[in-house]
Amino acid sequence: MHSTNDLRRAFLDYFADADHQVVPSAPLVPHNDPSLMFVNAGMVPFKNVFTGVETPPAPRATSSQKCVRAGGKHNDLDNVGYTARHLTFFEMLGNFSFGDYFKERAIELAWGMVTKEFGLDKDRLLVTVYHTDDETFDLWRKIAGLPEDRIIRIATKDNFWAMGADGPCGPCSEIFWDHGPEVVGGPPGSPEEDGDRFVEIWNLVFMQHLQQADTITGDLPRPSIDTGMGLERIATVLQGVHNVFDTDTFRTLVSASEELVKSTADEAALPSHRVIADHLRSTSFLIADGVLPSNEGRGYVLRRIMRRAMRHAHLLGADKPLMHRLVPTLVSEMGQAYPDLPRAQALITEVLEREETRFRQTLEKGLRLLDQETAELGEGDRLSGETAFKLYDTYGFPYDLTEDALRNRGIAVDREGFDASMEQQKAAARAAWKGSGAAADDELWFDIAEREGASEFTGYSAAEGEGRVVALVVDGKEVQSADSGQDVIVLTNQTPFYGESGGQMGDTGKITGDHRLEIAVTDTSKPLGRLHAHHGKIKAGQIAVGDTVHLAIDAQRRDEIRANHSATHLLHAALRNHLGDHVTQKGSLVAQDRLRFDFSHPKPLLPSEIAAIETEVNSEIRANEEVVTRLMSPDEAIEAGAMALFGEKYGEEVRVLSMGRQNWQGSGRNYSVELCGGTHVHAMGDIGLFRIISESAVSSGVRRIEALTGEAARKWVVGREELLKSVAATLKTAPDEVEERVAALVDERKRLERELAEAKKQLALGGGGGAASSDDEDVGGVTFSGQVLDGMNPRELRGLLDEAKNRMGSGVAAIVAVNEGKAAVAVAVTDDLIEMHSAVELVRAGVEAVGGKGGGGRPDMAQGGGPDGDKGADAIAAIRQALAGVSVS
Ligand code: ALA
Repeated sequence: MHSTNDLRRAFLDYFADADHQVVPSAPLVPHNDPSLMFVNAGMVPFKNVFTGVETPPAPRATSSQKCVRAGGKHNDLDNVGYTARHLTFFEMLGNFSFGDYFKERAIELAWGMVTKEFGLDKDRLLVTVYHTDDETFDLWRKIAGLPEDRIIRIATKDNFWAMGADGPCGPCSEIFWDHGPEVVGGPPGSPEEDGDRFVEIWNLVFMQHLQQADTITGDLPRPSIDTGMGLERIATVLQGVHNVFDTDTFRTLVSASEELVKSTADEAALPSHRVIADHLRSTSFLIADGVLPSNEGRGYVLRRIMRRAMRHAHLLGADKPLMHRLVPTLVSEMGQAYPDLPRAQALITEVLEREETRFRQTLEKGLRLLDQETAELGEGDRLSGETAFKLYDTYGFPYDLTEDALRNRGIAVDREGFDASMEQQKAAARAAWKGSGAAADDELWFDIAEREGASEFTGYSAAEGEGRVVALVVDGKEVQSADSGQDVIVLTNQTPFYGESGGQMGDTGKITGDHRLEIAVTDTSKPLGRLHAHHGKIKAGQIAVGDTVHLAIDAQRRDEIRANHSATHLLHAALRNHLGDHVTQKGSLVAQDRLRFDFSHPKPLLPSEIAAIETEVNSEIRANEEVVTRLMSPDEAIEAGAMALFGEKYGEEVRVLSMGRQNWQGSGRNYSVELCGGTHVHAMGDIGLFRIISESAVSSGVRRIEALTGEAARKWVVGREELLKSVAATLKTAPDEVEERVAALVDERKRLERELAEAKKQLALGGGGGAASSDDEDVGGVTFSGQVLDGMNPRELRGLLDEAKNRMGSGVAAIVAVNEGKAAVAVAVTDDLIEMHSAVELVRAGVEAVGGKGGGGRPDMAQGGGPDGDKGADAIAAIRQALAGVSVS
């Protein structure tokens, strides 16, 4: 038997031998196409290559592309599990020529593949061509030698393939396999074509045109080839079975689920096992590609699929969550071909288990309600929309799950009633919101959010991607279009731009598009916590609601922000380790050039504490562990040891970021575990270097640390070194000797100061030796010595005056010491004169002259001071005058 894995390999090898580059599957979330929810064909990743916007990886390529089709007209989720070939997840094998070979070679290669490599019986193959495509008709005759009655002309869109309403398209030619007369159905083009007998196995698309809004608007730069062969379908044919679920991979998955629920897949149970097998594949691959269950957009589609499978697990009587226990089987079946799957195994397991555990808590109650509500209903009846809405709203039953639950009994659901109930709830939410006194300009955002839903953030994994413009705001009002020169706020259905929140600044970057559109985005905000509003100026061109635009963030800036954000988490953990568990985050700013972290702590940090914190953070960085992101309910997160912000409002689900070494000091958890919606580095080493540059007070009990990482930290360190070098140059020494040199200079300065003071003192003493000072004068019969001494330390005054008294024997001495612009005034009176002259009175006269007040001491020695250092001479004059006044009287 050809295993599915062998077939995939054989296909890729065949085209590799025919000079095709083997290209790995792109992720399921298309970042280059906002109109698509998931990649649904092998050519989607090459869309821009076909249109000439991107250069091809090689002229010829081949791939096995993961695809998801869940919902929409060709694959109602509802059918999967009950039909022979519907799947939500499948692999599309394809070969591509980007302007290289065209129809003839494509047909040659395809015919060789199916008849020689796969060895299919030529007589059981037939093909279709577009009704006007004679060239292809002739080529099939020539190359394959098919008789005319097995080349069927088809006039409908079945033989004209288009990626979507917009994009590359062209006529196609399909190869069909005849499963044999025992299977019901007719050949393509016949009224019975929908049967399972003739099954399309390969579609060759002759990519030639470009269409917009379903109308051909032009030709591709060069005719190209896109082909698609469903791997599961060809496996069905080659394994000689009629149902995809009978192929090896599905049989293995179904057996594993049979074993776990201890129920054999009998007729009643079979669809449930198949639903589980298929949905396990789509949900696991979606999670591996970054989609997580939520109530919006892609996350909601994922939730719908997984909950459908979980209901079937319940139906089978599984007594505990089942899906996650099937992941090892899936990984061993498909992990080799898709290495992202084993890489994400832990995450997939965790997400599935949590979702199923939670869903089971309400599932039974919901099913009971459903039983009650439908007890009276029978085949052909309808369940009320209100009940379906209640199941959705209260029990988490997606609409199609309710439909699925009733399909066996032939009961339909009132969709209109469901939609009406939904509308009613929205109106009630708006009324409640209005009543809450929210800001008036928020109403604009509320309108947009209600109409368009939340914008999907794709920036955890992508730096650029496309988005559909859903709203434009100019001067606080919604507009339909905006022009060059205008300041505009652009909202798109999806975006890689992070909107400012949780301390992390919004992204900047560029929005470009048709008509030379270029918008410089200077900031991104996050109104209502669920919209992403790009603020910018239109540099060129125009933009209108409905346009598809290309959004690209400034990736370098974001990388720096990432490093700062992750470093903030490490810092938070280090602070708690070194200062204690009372440390909690009080605020943070994560910018491109720095980070700031405010936290509760009663006193300034010691230099030794700062050093230890910085050392520990850097050692975690060097350990270079990968960052692990998980999604949990807030309670689960806190139980897992995550640090959460008190008073912060968290949604139903939170992201939990684990960083640094695992099992930190035997705690069983990582060095840092925090709830966070921000963007982070992949591994700690991406932070580079961490440097604390300041520690200060914000308010009482709250400290602030500012720090740098990566290149900014390196530059800062280099700046310090430059400073050291320049200081060394000024000191005329080498940087290594600066410390010694400065110590020597300080010593020298101290010595010089001492010498200078001594010299001044000597000067004040009139050259010393107790000789009469030449400044001595006679004031009203009293010997008076008055001096102004610059740079004199006021502490020396008392000693100087004592010496002056000794020298004079009888008299009054006054000194004004001027230091740093201020004046200290002191007066001494020899004992024989204190009856007549009080030093206190005299000093007051001097103090007043230098702008001061008062002065105090004893009658023989008093002191005071004032701010006017330049008025020293006036002070002496005032003292002299006071002395004269007294003497005269
Ligand atoms: N793109 C083509 C398809 O999906 C091959 O059928």
